[in-house]
Amino acid sequence: MTQDEMKFAVAQAALKYVVKNTIIGVGTGSTANFFIDALAKIKNDIKGAVASSKVTSQRLESHGIKVFDLNEVKAISVYIDGADESDDSLNLIKGGGGALTREKIVAAVADQFICIADESKLVTIMGDFPLPVEVIPMASNYVKQQISQRIGGTPTVRENFVTDNGNLILDIKDLKITNPKSMETELNSITGVVTNGLFANRGADVLLLGTPNDVKVVTV
Ligand code: A5P
Repeated sequence: MTQDEMKFAVAQAALKYVVKNTIIGVGTGSTANFFIDALAKIKNDIKGAVASSKVTSQRLESHGIKVFDLNEVKAISVYIDGADESDDSLNLIKGGGGALTREKIVAAVADQFICIADESKLVTIMGDFPLPVEVIPMASNYVKQQISQRIGGTPTVRENFVTDNGNLILDIKDLKITNPKSMETELNSITGVVTNGLFANRGADVLLLGTPNDVKVVTV
């Protein structure tokens, strides 16, 4: 099975977690795109979706799925999204596509978070994938300096990239993330950081992991 076939398989498997007659949260990225395309086939079963990025919003609408502003909705039954890395405890790194802040907000509101990923995303210790941090543009040098002093690793500004919120992304390389919850909190305490791509204090509830043979259901 190719990586795309595994992404397709987990996207199909995620349909089982869609709660009928509710508004669901939909993530961003290539795996989430497979999910959006699968969701289109059962679109009449849901009231609509809250999107974690402009590009996801456009893809949902292109399928005729109603997109709600988060401030219009009272609840999100389930949030379905990919990840760049997951550990065994379902702590995640997200934000490879730069949508981490809206993703984190939608995940915070949702009753349940189902992560969909191919097996390459499951790691023992996170950090091989550079950790994204969204920063207010005027603070990028200060935040870089603070990260070097307080966290370690090598932060660099993502080139030619502006988030949906008009901010910059710093990608931190050379980390070994042995303490994801405290690192998430520490990074967020730096003035000028909007949020970071560690989803540990609110990790996934279920990881649907695509392997060449099947889709594994991982829970903590
Ligand atoms: C988007 O900002 C990210 O958090 C994605 O969810 C993550 O990068 C996974 O993307 P892929 O499914 O394309 O690997």
